Amino acid sequence: MKQEFRIENIANYVGQQVTLKGWLYASTRKGKLMFLRLRDGTGICQGVAYQPDLGEELFETLKRLGQESSLIVTGTVKENGRAPGIPGGYEIGIEAVEVLQNVEEYPITPKEHGVDFLMDNRHLWLRSSKQWAVMRVRATIKRAIIDFFDNNGFINIDTPIITPAAAEGTSTLFEVDYFEEKAYLAQTGQLYNEADIMAFGKVYCFGPTFRAEKSKTRRHLAEFWMVEPEMAFFDLEDLMDFEEQFVSYVVQTTIEKRRAELEFLERDLTVLENISAPFPRISYDEAIERIHALREATDDPELKEQLAIEWGDDFGAPHETELTKQFDKPVFVYGYPSQVKAFYMEPWPGRPEVCKSVDLLAPEGYGEIIGGSERMSDPDLLIAAIERHELPLEHYQWYVDLRQYGSVPHSGFGLGLERTVAWICGIEHIRQTIAFPRTLNRMNP
Ligand code: 4AD
Ligand code: MG
Repeated sequence: MKQEFRIENIANYVGQQVTLKGWLYASTRKGKLMFLRLRDGTGICQGVAYQPDLGEELFETLKRLGQESSLIVTGTVKENGRAPGIPGGYEIGIEAVEVLQNVEEYPITPKEHGVDFLMDNRHLWLRSSKQWAVMRVRATIKRAIIDFFDNNGFINIDTPIITPAAAEGTSTLFEVDYFEEKAYLAQTGQLYNEADIMAFGKVYCFGPTFRAEKSKTRRHLAEFWMVEPEMAFFDLEDLMDFEEQFVSYVVQTTIEKRRAELEFLERDLTVLENISAPFPRISYDEAIERIHALREATDDPELKEQLAIEWGDDFGAPHETELTKQFDKPVFVYGYPSQVKAFYMEPWPGRPEVCKSVDLLAPEGYGEIIGGSERMSDPDLLIAAIERHELPLEHYQWYVDLRQYGSVPHSGFGLGLERTVAWICGIEHIRQTIAFPRTLNRMNP
């Protein structure tokens, strides 16, 4: 393909004349000099317009150009250590400009806007440099995830979106009418992955996942992307060993490829650079003890209230947040009580009230980014679990079948892409990690 100039590669063009096709992000003027901040989708760079070079007429036109006007700019690339941009350090000495459309009154201005306004204008907000940087990091994280599995003996298999039954609890199902039969949008591809590994050994699916989350939190979307690997002949220990390699690879690859964007987001990279295997591992029992101790130690009555928990309860966001502050790397919490987890998890040997589950909690208060487990491999135990969870056995017969024909120990996990992006970018709310978020009160635009 023909090599077109792109701002992201501007360093390769020093001294050359280039054509930049893009938009005007902002501009300032100092007498006969104008500084245009130009963006082309791959970066932002400074264009310098000098009136005596361009002539009165064109210079006057540029002066009147509004934010987001579309342009084709021709000019020569120069190194300038002080030039702002992503990547910074280069500028274009403008020689000619073709204005495609002059925009007046672009709704998103450099002044502060409320999040609701910005979310209503999400179709435009994506052009703002912070949102743009986050989406670039997201694309790189997604690519790193896929590369990791493809390079480690996995085959990618797509799992169905329309499913007849729940896999992760019945309270978050989105119902659809499937030719007059009740069906649901997939909460996970895992159960199908379990069939696939008995045919292919190691598989992963990576697609949109749906949960009717009826709470407004900064960690929940109704539609999110999850990558789910599943491995035959894998136990809980193998799973943790694998996850720490995987997460470290994704973080380090993202730093390497998206340093400029992460720096622009003011992400503390020393924290991320430290992410390498092994990660600390604590049991659920120990996590409960730690939370009890934190609760004892705090003078803050509100936090004391939020940290109230007994053995057998699931963690809420405040528990995970306080717990992860104790570690500078992601931390594994394994061996949760079976009652707070899905039906398919292998019981702990000798402790049937506990299951061979493991969550990976991200540091700096981000909390759960991965949920996984060793899967139940005994057909009779599985049938009993399905009945205990009051799930319709007829829809799970094929799943039980897998335990009748060559059952093996196997494990897998799901990593939520948006939570991972939020953590790596260091941003507060998950709604800024996907182009068009779906939440309890928003599916527009
Ligand atoms: O812990 P979860 O529910 O696990 C599963 O779905 C398993 N079937 C995965 C598996 O073992 N194959 O979800 C896994 C991850 C969570 O750790 C979180 O990162 C993300 O998916 N997640 C959500 N992300 C955004 N919004 C939501 N509502 C999410 N629910 C889960
Ligand atoms: Mg979970």
